Amino acid sequence: MDVQVFGVVGGGTMGNGIAHVAAQTGFPVLLCEVDAALGAKALKTIEKNLQRGVDKGKTTADEKAAVLGRIKTTTRLEDLSGCEIVVEAVVENFDVKKKVFQTLDAACGPGTVLASNTSSISITKLAATTKRPGKVIGMHFMNPVPVMQLVEVIRGIATEQAVLDAVMALARKMGKMPVEVNDYPGFVSNRVLLPMINEAVYCLMEGVGTPEAIDTVMKLGMNHPMGPLALADLIGLDTCLFILNVLHDGLGDPKYRPCPLLIKMVDAGHLGRKSGRGFYAY
Ligand code: CAA
Repeated sequence: MDVQVFGVVGGGTMGNGIAHVAAQTGFPVLLCEVDAALGAKALKTIEKNLQRGVDKGKTTADEKAAVLGRIKTTTRLEDLSGCEIVVEAVVENFDVKKKVFQTLDAACGPGTVLASNTSSISITKLAATTKRPGKVIGMHFMNPVPVMQLVEVIRGIATEQAVLDAVMALARKMGKMPVEVNDYPGFVSNRVLLPMINEAVYCLMEGVGTPEAIDTVMKLGMNHPMGPLALADLIGLDTCLFILNVLHDGLGDPKYRPCPLLIKMVDAGHLGRKSGRGFYAY
């Protein structure tokens, strides 16, 4: 894929990370947010994350400025019409994503690939809302995007082989390791990860251990870089609950039922790092 402009929709945790990595690859990036203030906030986050590399001497201030200079923001989805690829990273809500996909489908040229960074919504179902199901694909980056190697590339039932090949090559060009998977609830990453996190929340609810004890067991005992409860706080407890519900509804197996404590924390607005409080205080 010869990317002249790389489109990103949504400048939250995942969207700003995707824009960051695309600009670092050398692509001009057009980032669409719902209002100008959110666009500016996304740029500020990217600036802060690029500064980490400058502080550590891994990149220069000039390189940081060049990367930032490649990212423009807009509030109009129609402005992405000339992009070769658009990666959608808006809230995990099918109706919101559907609206984004249908607007992009109407605005973009027939060759534009529409990718979703969804962590669990069906790519096949999203694709079916457009007139280009063959050009719809999942491009699931991991958080924090600039650091994590994996891109889970999800093939919907109609995704064209050429689109899959092009997106795999694009992910490699962005310095990532793409892994192809088929479209089933939770794909591979979250089908395996979320039951582990859910079980950790059950351990906490049943008093098997404190958050620190549970996380330390998994960190030191299983060599995980962070424990499951700290990771849940990083992902966002609302996102964890949403994905568990997708697994529960989509696979129909009670083993995926979300832990009542997780539901209670989401009800309380304790969503993890983004709200300042989850299993830990931030
Ligand atoms: N942007 C840019 N760089 C970042 C960053 C960010 N947001 N966050 C961390 N970094 C960089 C740091 O600058 C540091 O760089 P150097 O190695 O060059 O020094 C490096 O990452 C490590 O960071 P820290 O030293 O601050 O902290 P750490 O060693 O504890 O690592 C971590 C932090 C990378 C988050 C690590 O704990 C980790 O890998 N955790 C697991 C993350 C994980 O599992 N992610 C997947 C979540 S699931 C998901 O995303 C999918 C889904 O659908 C839910």
